[in-house]
Amino acid sequence: MRDVSPRSLTRREILAASAACGVAAALPAIAAGKESLGELAAAKGITYGASFAGHELDAPYGASYAAMYKRECRILTSELEFKLATLRPTADVIDFAPADRLMAFAEANGLAVRGHTLIWHDALPDWINRLGPGEAGYLLDAHIETVLERYAGRVKHWDVVNEPIGPWDKLPGNLRTGVFLAAFGEDYIARSFRLARKLDPKARLVLNEAQTEADDENSRTFRESFLALVRRLKDAGVPVDAVGLESHLVSSRRYDFPRFAAWIADLAALGLEIHITELDVDDAAFPSNIRERDKRVAAMYRDFLDAVLQVKAVTTVVDWQLADHTSWIYGAALAKNVKRLPRPLPYDSEFRRKPAWYTIAEAFRAAPAR
Ligand code: XIL
Repeated sequence: MRDVSPRSLTRREILAASAACGVAAALPAIAAGKESLGELAAAKGITYGASFAGHELDAPYGASYAAMYKRECRILTSELEFKLATLRPTADVIDFAPADRLMAFAEANGLAVRGHTLIWHDALPDWINRLGPGEAGYLLDAHIETVLERYAGRVKHWDVVNEPIGPWDKLPGNLRTGVFLAAFGEDYIARSFRLARKLDPKARLVLNEAQTEADDENSRTFRESFLALVRRLKDAGVPVDAVGLESHLVSSRRYDFPRFAAWIADLAALGLEIHITELDVDDAAFPSNIRERDKRVAAMYRDFLDAVLQVKAVTTVVDWQLADHTSWIYGAALAKNVKRLPRPLPYDSEFRRKPAWYTIAEAFRAAPAR
C-alpha cells in the first residue's frame, strides 16, 4: 500500500487537499498529524469512537485497521460480537470467542467498550425466532445473566434494548414486534434494564433507536413514539441512563438538524445522556465525482454535528466503522453488485483521512465544552 499517512504529506499537497475540500482551518492538525478525533472530542468532554469488528483484524489490512482505531478512538462499539446471532448460533452453543477478542483488543489499548446489544428483535438465529413466548421470556433473562456475569464491570455502555420502535407493525405505542415483545409485552424493555442494572451496576444503560433524525413523516413518527416510550420508562423508575440515536444519515432524505437538536434537548430534559451511536452517511444520491461527493458527505457530518453538539447532554459520538470499505453500506453495495462504491466514513479504503475526517474534527473544535 502507498504510504499516504498525514505525516508523509508535503505542505503543497496539504494545501491542495485542503483547498479541494474547503477545510483550510484543519491545516495545523494535518501538518502535525498527531491530533485524533478521540483527542479533539475529549478536549470538549465528549467521548468519540467507532464500531469495530474483530474479524477485520484478520484481513490483509488488519494492522492498518488496528492502528487507525488505536489512533482515533476512545471507545469501541461491538458491531457483531454481542449480537445473539454471534453469541448463540445454535440452541446448545454459547460462543464468547468474538466478544472476548474485542474486549481483549479494547483492554490492551485502553479503549472503553459499548456493548451492542443485549436485546434486539433482529440479528437473531432461526432457533430463537422459532421460540414460543414462554421460552423466549426464559431466554431473555438467561441471556442477560450469562453475558453480564462474564463482562460486568468491563463494559462502559450497554445498548440494553435496541430499536424498540417499528410503526409498520401497527402495535400500540408503535412498538416493534418480535419474540421478546411476544413474551412480556412492552415490559420486556423495563425487565431488561432492571436486570442489567442489578447485574452490572456501574455500566451506563442505553436505549438505542434508529430513524429519528430526518425531517419527514417517518422520522416524526419515530421521534414521537420513542420520546413517549422513554417518558413511560422514566415515569416507572426504569434505570435508563442514556438514549442512543443511531444517526445513519441518508443523502436522499430531508433533514432539519437544528429541529432534530431541539428534540434531543427535550429527551435530555428527562434526565438522560444522549449518545450518537451509529453515525455514517449513505452517499447514494450525491454526485459520482469523488471530490464532489466527499465534500457533500463531509458537509453533512459537519451540519449534523454542529447542531447536535450544541446540546451538552450529547456526551458520546460513535461512527459506524471508520474506513469506507468496512462499512455495512459498502458491504450492501458489493452484495448488490453496485458499480459506484459508497464512501460513507471519515477514512477511505486505503486508510487515508477524507474530507469528512476534517469536518468532524472542526465540529469537535467548535463544540461547547461539557
Ligand atoms: C449492522 C452491521 O453493521 C452489519 O454488519 C450486520 O450485517 C447487520 O447489522 N442498526 C444497528 C446495528 O443497531 O446493529 C446494525 O449493524 C445497523 C443498523
